[in-house]
Amino acid sequence: MDQWDLKDKVVVIAGIGDDAGFAWAIAKAFKNLGAKVIAGTWPPLLGILEQILANEKYSESRKLKNGQELVFDAIYPLDALYDTLDAVPQDVKENKRYKGLDDFSIKGFVSRVAQDFGKVDIMIHAIANAKEIKNPLSMTSREGYLHALSASSYSFVSLCSCFKTIMGSNGSCLTLTYRAADQVIPGYGGGMSSAKAALEADVRYLAYELGQEKMIRVNAISAGPLASRAARAIGMIDSMIEYSFNNSPIQRDLEAEDVANTMLFLASPLSKAITGQVIYVDHGLGIMGRPTQNAEKKEEALI
Ligand SMILES: NC(=O)c1ccc[n+]([C@@H]2O[C@H](COP(=O)([O-])OP(=O)(O)OC[C@H]3O[C@@H](n4cnc5c(N)ncnc54)[C@H](O)[C@@H]3O)[C@@H](O)[C@H]2O)c1
Repeated sequence: MDQWDLKDKVVVIAGIGDDAGFAWAIAKAFKNLGAKVIAGTWPPLLGILEQILANEKYSESRKLKNGQELVFDAIYPLDALYDTLDAVPQDVKENKRYKGLDDFSIKGFVSRVAQDFGKVDIMIHAIANAKEIKNPLSMTSREGYLHALSASSYSFVSLCSCFKTIMGSNGSCLTLTYRAADQVIPGYGGGMSSAKAALEADVRYLAYELGQEKMIRVNAISAGPLASRAARAIGMIDSMIEYSFNNSPIQRDLEAEDVANTMLFLASPLSKAITGQVIYVDHGLGIMGRPTQNAEKKEEALI
């Protein structure tokens, strides 16, 4: 993989807000191979991202393999709930985190990439949001449910539709999903499980449509648990990490780099025959039908 020269490749990552999530590790992985990396950042997190990129305290986190530090080729504001600026409600436009920003809609974001870089080769969607995440599905309002789908699933459809216009053939669109799409994960509420199920179905339809139209590949990674900002908002990430460690065939904590390396593979010519797939990067947790014997022995020891 180190031989894959990305110097002329433009990579867009939608959903970078800090150094704790998958997107940060993905950005570093592509930078390590020389790509141009553009960040699309949710306006409420722009200030945090700027601090992480400037503050000495985060210099270790910014380190690339060659000893240099991560610098994005551009950072644009992006609120993926909106396809055009016209669709943005007035109160959002006037909110202090949004006021004065250039067009932060999906169309605005894509126009800026087109204007400043002329093209995109790889588009990565790392966005999830559900305003009622703490509510079980049966207690989620229609508004909360539709918000989860709009922010977490339709955002990918819209980004793919817009970016395909400036993506050449052999481009790649990638997203991140979670096992809650097809198994019950108690606590993963607010319609997020439905959003991930929709996202995975959309990956297959987009793979068909963009593949036929432009030879663009579309894939998803279903990642194991990581203590990111979004995962902390769910409120049970530590127990999910512990459960995963105790019950996976491979007993190891997931690192964001594990997912980033698989993203590299899925964007590279090494995977040129793979499209429409959900690839699990979870130490095998998803194949288990019941807790491991190790986990059961631990339980017994506690009784
Ligand atoms: N952390 C996990 O355990 C885990 C497991 C499997 C899949 N995932 C998925 O990985 C992806 C990245 O999440 P993460 O866990 O790295 O957390 P994260 O908090 O780093 O990433 C989520 C990002 O979504 C952005 N976002 C939210 N609403 C937005 C909007 N309206 N417009 C633009 N951006 C918006 C946030 O600013 C944030 O940067 C998500 O799709 C998540 O569901 C996470």
